[in-house]
Amino acid sequence: MELPFAESYKIKMVEPIQRSHRHEREQWIKEAHYNLFNLRSDQVFVDLLTDSGTGAMSDRQWSEMMLGDESYAGASSYYKMKNAIADITGFEFFLPTHQGRAAENVLFSAMVKEGDLVPGNSHFDTTKGHIEFRKATAVDCTIDEAFDTTLDHPFKGNIDLEKLENVFKKYPVEKIPMVIITITCNTSGGQPVSMQNIREVSALSHRYGVKVVFDSARFAENAYFIKKREPAYAEISIRKIVREMFSYGDAMTMSSKKDAIVNMGGFIGFREEELFQKASVFNIMFEGFITYGGMSGRDMNALAQGLYEGTEFDYLETRISQVAYLGKLLKDAGVPVQYPFGGHAIFVDAKRFLPHLPKEQYIAQSLAVELYLEGGVRGVEIGTIMADRDPVTRENRYPNLEMVRLAIPRRTYTNNHMAYVAASLINVWERRSEIRTGFRIVKEAPILRHFTVGLEKI
Ligand code: F0G
Repeated sequence: MELPFAESYKIKMVEPIQRSHRHEREQWIKEAHYNLFNLRSDQVFVDLLTDSGTGAMSDRQWSEMMLGDESYAGASSYYKMKNAIADITGFEFFLPTHQGRAAENVLFSAMVKEGDLVPGNSHFDTTKGHIEFRKATAVDCTIDEAFDTTLDHPFKGNIDLEKLENVFKKYPVEKIPMVIITITCNTSGGQPVSMQNIREVSALSHRYGVKVVFDSARFAENAYFIKKREPAYAEISIRKIVREMFSYGDAMTMSSKKDAIVNMGGFIGFREEELFQKASVFNIMFEGFITYGGMSGRDMNALAQGLYEGTEFDYLETRISQVAYLGKLLKDAGVPVQYPFGGHAIFVDAKRFLPHLPKEQYIAQSLAVELYLEGGVRGVEIGTIMADRDPVTRENRYPNLEMVRLAIPRRTYTNNHMAYVAASLINVWERRSEIRTGFRIVKEAPILRHFTVGLEKI
């Protein structure tokens, strides 16, 4: 018999979680103005809001915490992090930041100005927010295949070279400070970018004199997919693939809360000293001195260790197989989920789930609320609410995809939890025709509205 897949770790410490009753959840979600971000965590049974900072650290990471050096300047923890980053990514210069969006804030302060264009593959919301906050424009150049959730394509995060070159031809390069390659591409469904695409995007951008920046939150998962799906890399180690991926870029921003498996932290990696120096000024202003940048020494230690654990093949196999396990349970029951399954999450196609709901009633949000009511499972809307209003016309932007993302924290839940989540969503699927109305917005912020939006039932 072929031996089945099993987790590459065992559990040493547990945290209790509690189930609730439907009548309680009805009350709680109403009090939360139907915004899942407003729920208290103890009102949630299985929390798939995000895989960001919600993972379980290893015994080795916890022991590294005890060795943290809290010196203000030149801490040994800083050097531990610097060496790990250089070893894993190849970037010799780096700045610590407190998380990924802080890395974007610092780097874009040094690179992006009003009127600029920043092409990329479905920029993440904070990335786009930081671009638009500077009155610049994010131009989505993701391949069209990404927007058909039923299509089987191995690298739906890829950038369309023709779309990218059109941007280069249409605008002066002085207005294009960088191309952002998001690995994996969260907004398009945790979908990977192939090595070939990274190589070609880099060559094209550099030919026009444009820098390449990686938004690297899930870079190790991207490397895993390259190993599994790009035949030339089947026998190459994850670490070697990672080094090659980053070799095509000029800089990287990192939310270490994902593939470095820490609860908080981030950094920027730079190829050249000049850009590093320019960004250092902003790091000191916004984050902290350049050898801690908003992180404590203990956190830098855990991050350094996490970069090694996050790039182990067995760990990645465990993680991505768990995501696929949930995906398969749903797909087999006929629930419309994005295919192929992403690295960190299953994306439920809300437009196909609730085709009778008008887009003005926030389809994906309606589905996310139903899933919470059904089983106390918290996912997140990646749809019209998150897409926000057009900064110029202030009209709602209706994205191609209306998704509910079920993001799976690293090393945190068991496959029984996944089966519970699947059963909850399948129950909603079976009564989908009874969900007749959605929501209207009663309160929203001028930017990144999804975090604080208030809704009422229509
Ligand atoms: N880039 C990507 C691709 C991300 O997914 C995130 C965060 C960030 C940048 C920003 O990093 O949160 O550390 O400031 N994504 C989380 C999520 C929040 O739920 O997908 P951060």
